[in-house]
Amino acid sequence: MVKHPKPFVEIVSTGRYLPERVLTNHELEKMVETSDEWIRERTGIRERRIARPDEGAADMAAEASRRAMEKAGIEAGEIDYIVLATATPDRWLPSTACDTQALLGANNAMAFDVAAACSGWLYALQVAEGFLASGRGEIALVVATEKMSSIVDWKDRSTCVLFGDGAGAAILRRAQGDAGILSGFHKSDGTLGNLLYRPAGGATIPMSQEVLDNRDHLLKMSGREVFKNAVRSMAEASDQALQRAGLTGDDIDLLIPHQANMRIISATAKYAGIPMEKVYVNVDRYGNMSSAAIPVALDETIEQGLVGPGSQILTVAFGAGFTWSAMTFRL
Ligand code: ACO
Repeated sequence: MVKHPKPFVEIVSTGRYLPERVLTNHELEKMVETSDEWIRERTGIRERRIARPDEGAADMAAEASRRAMEKAGIEAGEIDYIVLATATPDRWLPSTACDTQALLGANNAMAFDVAAACSGWLYALQVAEGFLASGRGEIALVVATEKMSSIVDWKDRSTCVLFGDGAGAAILRRAQGDAGILSGFHKSDGTLGNLLYRPAGGATIPMSQEVLDNRDHLLKMSGREVFKNAVRSMAEASDQALQRAGLTGDDIDLLIPHQANMRIISATAKYAGIPMEKVYVNVDRYGNMSSAAIPVALDETIEQGLVGPGSQILTVAFGAGFTWSAMTFRL
């Protein structure tokens, strides 16, 4: 077990972007057989944001990134690494990171995508920490962006009510003092991939009329299995990240869990021994924005003054793969 006496890398600033269009549960009642009451009771979600048809994952990523860069006072040309998490790339080639790089004009950066679904931003944060700690670069942009509305099956009530669109970003640099990433725990289990997946449209079953007719290019989910695994895995990750930082739940000022479902959030907080007053929740307003959920929440908590310099934060996520992840850091 590695206990970091001093962080290598710190989060300098954050930014977020949320599309303007709000889709309420009541509107969904007109699209599929569901009710506002069912959605709120089972998930805690009231509404979610939906990107414009012409608004891509890279557009949202660039907007969130610009806001983080402005707060950090850095120019695009100063960025050495763009590590971008997404499960909804705008196109298969090139990466959404490269498209975002072009929009930002960050022409000195190495840009690439990380595919770890809802755990993506924490995986990306860990990757960027490694790059910066190696001493070969100074500044990293770690951004998550999701246009979940483009992969959700709007005829499947068991999934379409859950997700939303948005993007969140952070600027990282080598730590100057006590603030920074304290620990990380990341794990995957590829044997459970088919519990949350898009069956076709990739290399093995390329897009065809049959795929489109069967709606096999869209998201499929075994909700109950995902739920059980999420609760178990997020508990493990929280536990491990706290231990690796030499912390307990009492040392944490704020828990920012992945925002998928209010019941998963409550179970995670309970297991980590963190009271709900110290848990940030925005799933009611945005639904599940996959990898973008945690950076958007982090940006909101900083803006609202819920956390500030010296605050110790635990973040934890779970997603398709399965992947799961937790990190602790001090602002
Ligand atoms: N409106 C009304 N009824 C619905 C809806 C809906 N939108 N969706 C499903 N139902 C019905 C089902 O058809 C079923 O009906 P039946 O009993 O007649 O067959 C009934 O509700 C119960 O369905 P379950 O799937 O058993 O409901 P459950 O209590 O498990 O809740 C849910 C479903 C909310 C999807 C839950 O399983 C869940 O949250 N799972 C985790 C999923 C998740 O968060 N995935 C995101 C990606 S991973 C991550 O981010 C953590």
